[in-house]
Amino acid sequence: MEYQQRYRAYQEAIENYLHGLFTQDTPYGKLYESMRYSILAGGKRIRPVLTLEFARLGGLDWHLALPYACALELVHNYSLIHDDLPCMDDDDLRRGKPTNHKVFGETLAVLAGDALQPEAFRLIAQAPGLSAQSRIDAVEVLAKACGADGMVGGQVLDTVYGARDEASLTELNRLKTGAMIAAAAELGCVAAGMSAEQRSQAVEFAQQLGLAFQIRDDMLDVMGDEQVFGKPIGSDREEGKITYVDVRGLDGCAREVEACTARAKAALEQWEDHAFLWELADRLVGRNQ
Ligand code: IPE
Ligand code: IPE
Ligand code: MG
Ligand code: MG
Ligand code: MG
Repeated sequence: MEYQQRYRAYQEAIENYLHGLFTQDTPYGKLYESMRYSILAGGKRIRPVLTLEFARLGGLDWHLALPYACALELVHNYSLIHDDLPCMDDDDLRRGKPTNHKVFGETLAVLAGDALQPEAFRLIAQAPGLSAQSRIDAVEVLAKACGADGMVGGQVLDTVYGARDEASLTELNRLKTGAMIAAAAELGCVAAGMSAEQRSQAVEFAQQLGLAFQIRDDMLDVMGDEQVFGKPIGSDREEGKITYVDVRGLDGCAREVEACTARAKAALEQWEDHAFLWELADRLVGRNQ
């Protein structure tokens, strides 16, 4: 199947799955509304697509991995809602729309983010057709990726400490962005019951992809087009952040994105059917969105 067709099939399944969540009538309806506002706002779905593709490569009917894929996407969305808050990056625009706290207020934005986390683990616990062992492993993978030694640790480095040199920036990016992208790949492997060796190659691929992804994000924060990027340009500078762009310059960043992407692709060299993942990696190098 050609790349775009496959990406669209995954995307459609992800959108459908997410559409079905948090639809009940409740006395706290605004909470659901706020959660749905963010999870249905038109994200690229790169992380859940990775989960589904690795599940497929492992020989699983990839539809069975949708709860894992969407669980990670819920956590990703919580991380973005909180990331945009005034106490964090203080941004008003995400995916071309007002950020969650701009529409629902800070209290509901914090609480929507809070609620998305346990709901993610519920999706994993209840995943139909996947073994109890697989679901326990998936909980562990996601918990590690988004916890203190993963994304949250990275966010603390980013917002409380800041990084000055290349080594500390790489560590920060590995935690705040690489960990969740690596977990997305690993969840697909866990769903399909892949070998430990395949799992570690998948993680290496996604870690490198994650580094490339964050460096490109930092470049777009400087040189992007707000209409296409969907986020404010210049937000990092406004917050006084030092990013890869300050350390390496835009050309140096572009070279580093290429280098990380090459390392990502090399991790899957032995895999017979890596065409989709290689193309995904190549497309992310020059992304503008
Ligand atoms: C944004 O991630 C946060 C970063 C790690 C840079 P994405 O660019 O994947 O966000 P959406 O979900 O597609 O909006
Ligand atoms: C990644 O960093 C954010 C998270 C880990 C949630 P950014 O702060 O650069 O992400 P954007 O640019 O706001 O999407
Ligand atoms: Mg941030
Ligand atoms: Mg931000
Ligand atoms: Mg950014």
